Amino acid sequence: MSNIVELETARGTRFEFWARQKPGKSKPEQTDGELFALRSGQRTLYRIAALPPYFQYYGYTHHADGPLTVEWDENVIEMSLFYRYAPAEVAGEGVTFLELKGGRLVARPKEAWPAWYQSDPDRPQLRFSPFQAWMNDPNGLCFIDGRYHLFYQFHPVEAEWGPMHWGHAVSDDLYRWTHLPVFLHPEQNLWSLGATGGAFSGSAFIGPDGGVSFYYTERLPAYDLFKDYKEVQRHVVPSTDLLRPEANSLVLIDGPPGSAHDFRDPKVWYDSDRGAYRMVLGAAIDGDPAVLLYGSQNGADWKYLAVLYRAPEHFRQHGARCVECPDFFELDGRFVLVMGFVGYTEPETGRHNLLYAQVGLFEDDRFNPLTPALQELDFGTDFYAMQSFRAKERQIAFAWLFNWEFRKPAGSPYSGELSLPRVLGLDAQLRLTMLPEDGYRTLRSRALAQASPGRFICEPGQPIELSLTGALDGIRIVGRGGEGESFTIAHHAERLQVSVAEDTGEIEYRSTPLTLENLRLFFDRGVLEIFANDGAVCGTRRTYKITALTALELIPSAATRVDACEAWSYHSVWGD
Ligand code: FRU
Repeated sequence: MSNIVELETARGTRFEFWARQKPGKSKPEQTDGELFALRSGQRTLYRIAALPPYFQYYGYTHHADGPLTVEWDENVIEMSLFYRYAPAEVAGEGVTFLELKGGRLVARPKEAWPAWYQSDPDRPQLRFSPFQAWMNDPNGLCFIDGRYHLFYQFHPVEAEWGPMHWGHAVSDDLYRWTHLPVFLHPEQNLWSLGATGGAFSGSAFIGPDGGVSFYYTERLPAYDLFKDYKEVQRHVVPSTDLLRPEANSLVLIDGPPGSAHDFRDPKVWYDSDRGAYRMVLGAAIDGDPAVLLYGSQNGADWKYLAVLYRAPEHFRQHGARCVECPDFFELDGRFVLVMGFVGYTEPETGRHNLLYAQVGLFEDDRFNPLTPALQELDFGTDFYAMQSFRAKERQIAFAWLFNWEFRKPAGSPYSGELSLPRVLGLDAQLRLTMLPEDGYRTLRSRALAQASPGRFICEPGQPIELSLTGALDGIRIVGRGGEGESFTIAHHAERLQVSVAEDTGEIEYRSTPLTLENLRLFFDRGVLEIFANDGAVCGTRRTYKITALTALELIPSAATRVDACEAWSYHSVWGD
């Protein structure tokens, strides 16, 4: 074979990769039945004799001591994701990403991640994003043995949505993450079927005995993105190190009458008063987006109980297909229901796929709202598939910063980013509030200087925070980069509005009416998260156009009175 590299490899090291035959290389000439091999001296330990034209997952565990030689035919093999790890060490060290490139084997252990993350001028530095390839929803969030686990919807072979896996990362503080091996795979090779589907979204469940397991949806091989697919619910018990599924069982196959192909994204909890398990699922009932409630005595046998929530007709009439990623949790003695309405376009503003919350009571398996209307959770819309979990007596949430409206320019090695970790609360009007988890303060590097009153000079590429209190009605905040305005936030006609460089004006990103009392924003290489009025009104935008700020300007109106104002530059969470 054309390339050979020696690699020091400890006993127990595991290699995992996704590979196929390079497109256009229909019949490789002199392959002698070897396209990739791992050898110890003369001994062949692992060999790929033929590669399919579609991606396939490969894994090898080294049950011997000493170095390995890695040999490959770079003309024929195309590898997408490739990493190795020592199972006993991986919780701290993470995986080492590998790349076959120009006859070399490039290794990127944890020490090399800062350079990798920081070298992309459009890659957020305060937020989680996958090392490479595609990510969407956060899944399986949990706090186990003092560490936060994040799983996420992952398509390992390219920076586009496709057959779904669960990626995995771990953190001590919700900000700095260590990449772990892929946790869940689709039931079968969907690339070979020319299908999509796989391990869809789901969540962690802490059982009555304190043990953690996961419920998720498997979308069976699907040949149409919008209809005629089948979604079933599965339960996974992980290995004690949480690296692998130890048992994976099918627990729920069919939805109730009136439901159709959308039947997904389970969230499960244990109701200790009843001594019973409860599950919510996103679905549609007779075409209306709905949340379904299921019950179980053992977590394995599930019974349909009721429609917990059914969206008003308005949503179906404006394109909503179903509820996605329902979240349902107790907070300060109330229950909060969070839902994404996929397909919905709001007629007044043109915004789509919005996320809503409603606060109420959960009594006798009924959700009785205490607030009359749905609360819009994010007026900027790039905050979707939010999932929350309980840790250290706080309800913490992450969401996927994406709305399918804009996307990272082609050529990026990855797609998909998560929000800052947010702590959830309820205010006096029973609105769900979201504020960044306090740990962000430890990441501040220095206060930003003002060139003139209200004009802060930024360090391009470094995340910034601006926080204001006062009577802020009428204020405008402009983020500028070398090539022009990156974003503008304005309090105008009683609402907060936000626009970014790529906006054409067709969609209006604006909040519900408010008197603006305080505002905290974070801008991070194109990600803008806005928290107003103590987190009761939030807005998130992702811009890909002007992502390095040189200045931040506050432009007050005659009515504006700023009482306090500070701005900070930040370190990267991917720093040393
Ligand atoms: C939301 C969603 C979920 C689904 C997953 C598939 O973004 O569509 O409903 O489980 O993504 O990747």
